Amino acid sequence: MEPNPPDPCDPPSPHRLAPPPHPLALLRQATAARRAAGLGRRLDARRPGPGGPVDLASNDYLGLSRDKRLADAAVTAAREWGTGSTGSRLVTGTTQLHERLEHDLARFTGAGAALVFSSGYLANLAAVATLGTVLAAPHRASGPGVLVVSDAANHASLIDACRLSRARVEVTPHADVGAVERALAARTEPAALVVSDTVFSVTGDLAPVTGLHRAARAHQALLVLDEAHALGVLGPGGRGVAAAAGIAGEPDVIRTLTLSKSLGGQGGAVAGPTEVIETLVDAGRAFIFDTGLAPPSAGAALAALEILDGDPGLGPRAQANARRLADMAAGLGFDVSPPAAAVVRLMFGEPAAALDAQRLCADHGVRVGCFRPPSVPPGQACLRLTARANLTENDFAAAFRTLGAVRDHVRITA
Ligand SMILES: Cc1ncc(COP(=O)(O)O)c(C=O)c1O
Repeated sequence: MEPNPPDPCDPPSPHRLAPPPHPLALLRQATAARRAAGLGRRLDARRPGPGGPVDLASNDYLGLSRDKRLADAAVTAAREWGTGSTGSRLVTGTTQLHERLEHDLARFTGAGAALVFSSGYLANLAAVATLGTVLAAPHRASGPGVLVVSDAANHASLIDACRLSRARVEVTPHADVGAVERALAARTEPAALVVSDTVFSVTGDLAPVTGLHRAARAHQALLVLDEAHALGVLGPGGRGVAAAAGIAGEPDVIRTLTLSKSLGGQGGAVAGPTEVIETLVDAGRAFIFDTGLAPPSAGAALAALEILDGDPGLGPRAQANARRLADMAAGLGFDVSPPAAAVVRLMFGEPAAALDAQRLCADHGVRVGCFRPPSVPPGQACLRLTARANLTENDFAAAFRTLGAVRDHVRITA
């Protein structure tokens, strides 16, 4: 029998359309578009040894990443426990070194307990996603069960953690306690989390933690504070913003930490009430399904905590150096706000201007961070300068020369 002739009203058969572009061709197009918009990124490998650019970009706030005591502790740990942890924490990835580190982190931060992760990113994913899903479980049939209230300037790892929590997420304007309070008061979900950086990673300002805690407590919510940029720099002896605010050991306060900034190594942790830590051990997917922190990193972090215990002046030195950098930049006419910790933001506005400024800094032998969308909102591209406790007079002189050249040559559009 003859097949029916095609009906002109039928949609064209997908088989007769031109084949779609190859996925790699689509990726090339997207990359070209990002680069044209000044949003391309590239890796810039550091060289070993002294004589490289002046570092005003790293998160090595206390200058510990090259401290011999940390290197020795890492080597000793590698010899004693191996270069890798060999498995996930619940199988073979927990050594006595991990236990010691968790004990010392809990003591240092004044928390009931602590749990170590292979990165701060994973610590955030575990804390927010696990609490969100576990607290929602009894109510799942009738809706999300949990509200997560998240500051608009929170770090990407907290944003991703909110997405994974499967909770209803309400993003509140930056550092706005009133908005947090209203979101909590209006909620229909039985449980809630309030989530915030304590020192914001790009803007460098402080979260209103006392107000956030008051709001969280008034509405029976848990407060999750990311102390990544505060640990080692702010609070008594570098114990962070929650410790400075006197809420470190409170039963509704959970802190997430990174071992890879002030502590000069690699890894992350959650510090909080034992109920929270037990929940993460039982149900935290980012904890359970990840290889444990490598022993050399655990050893280095233990050595860093010992150094911090013995030298409470390290954090204040990093802060003072940040203020000096900010004053210098303000004196040269940059748009800069007073830093709360060691992060100094210089506003540029458009990505191309910030990128030009970063290149000029590199040409002058100074490495700075450049933040463009999507890391910051559109129109808020900036340079991010970070101070270290061990910046030298030569470093400051290089910063002054370089920022002067940037001011003379780059059009600031902010
Ligand atoms: C605020 C904040 N939280 C968490 C992280 C993630 O920590 P880690 O680098 O240890 O994964 C970062 C890292 O840049 C950060 O800035």
